[in-house]
Amino acid sequence: MRMVDLIEKKRDGKILTKEEIDFIIAGYTNEEIPDYQMSALLMAIFYQDMTDEEITNLTLAMAHSGDIIDLSSIEGIKVDKHSTGGVGDTTTLVLAPLVASVGVPVAKMSGRGLGFTGGTLDKFESIPGFRIELSDQEFIDIVNKSQVAVIGQSGNLAPADKKLYALRDVTGTVDSIPLIASSIMSKKIAAGADAIVLDVTTGEGAFMKNLDDAKRLAHTMVRIGKLAGRQTMAVISDMSEPLGEAVGNGLEIVEAIEALQGKGPEDLMEMCYVLGSQMVVLAGKAESLDDARVMLKEALESGKALEKFREMVQDQGGDASVIDQPEKLITATYQFDLPAKESGYVTEIVANEIGIAAMLLGAGRRTKEDDIDHAVGIKLKKKVGDAVKEGEALLTIYSNTEDTSAVEQLLYENISIGDNSLEPTLIHGIITE
Ligand code: URA
Ligand code: CA
Repeated sequence: MRMVDLIEKKRDGKILTKEEIDFIIAGYTNEEIPDYQMSALLMAIFYQDMTDEEITNLTLAMAHSGDIIDLSSIEGIKVDKHSTGGVGDTTTLVLAPLVASVGVPVAKMSGRGLGFTGGTLDKFESIPGFRIELSDQEFIDIVNKSQVAVIGQSGNLAPADKKLYALRDVTGTVDSIPLIASSIMSKKIAAGADAIVLDVTTGEGAFMKNLDDAKRLAHTMVRIGKLAGRQTMAVISDMSEPLGEAVGNGLEIVEAIEALQGKGPEDLMEMCYVLGSQMVVLAGKAESLDDARVMLKEALESGKALEKFREMVQDQGGDASVIDQPEKLITATYQFDLPAKESGYVTEIVANEIGIAAMLLGAGRRTKEDDIDHAVGIKLKKKVGDAVKEGEALLTIYSNTEDTSAVEQLLYENISIGDNSLEPTLIHGIITE
């Protein structure tokens, strides 16, 4: 087989066989196929698309390019949850302990943030001492003891995806449905969960800017999961404005603690209950979504979920005193309110631009090598639909630099105020096949 023939085949819109896809992924992983040929193939896939069967074969080849994690020594049905990316998406921080507190084992592998999207690992690392690098045995032991642990992606998990993702990032081939679906699902399959709950985001702060694309991505991933023998479902959620109020690492930990104390923003709580109920049902801990929601609400209201968060922080070496004194995490030197320039209703808060503003403050990375500042970020005081008076604070900027004028200008350009109050939609659909 020659790579150039396969590039031409895809360029001409033909279907690649399983053998051809296996050849490509094996060759690219062991560096027999160079980046320039792979780049050409990625661009051909971008334009010509792939059939479901091709995407499934691509996903399985990528999943098997490295280690497949064996979680069978953890008792119970392991359910993983994965979001396709967002801004201020604090869900995992709340959901992991919440779901674990009703007895669902959560063995979660999370990533770091890049560009305008935040990463769960960076958020947890805002807690002093919190270790996300655990050995496989430590990870399994903690989940068996406490039902929950979060770790970074292990070195040899889906190495084909690691290489491909870096190449897509610099060749204009990130936002392709077959490439996103195979990238996400290869890692989920390799990470060993029995069941997978996907949060497919749509809107300005997501990869899929429109709902039809998000639906197609969701259907594609659900089908791949099922073909790979994992129970899989997807929730399509809105990411036009950031989720909750906090955007930034330490600030989102504070938001998660408050949420677990029953003081969370409405949209964040709803996301947690919708995704959490699906996880509880897939894990076989409740008969219906309604029963699951009642269980989760009770766990939250009784303080059980917050105690689970404390246990999780302690298990992973973190300073659990932040749970009683979350203000310890608010360490930015400067806090500035951004006043509204007119009265009316907030009609738009463009999520990706708010993510970029947080990144410019130092909360995110421009390149993979950048260091991040856990203290900085943005806390929204108004969300879409809220009334605001001229001069009233739209948000607070947490900064370690005194001059934030460029960030303020970017924020003003991306928050609109109009005459009508509109009710944003949070959940656009549930996809089970
Ligand atoms: N997240 C991933 O892991 N891969 C993609 O391609 C997009 C989002
Ligand atoms: Ca948030």
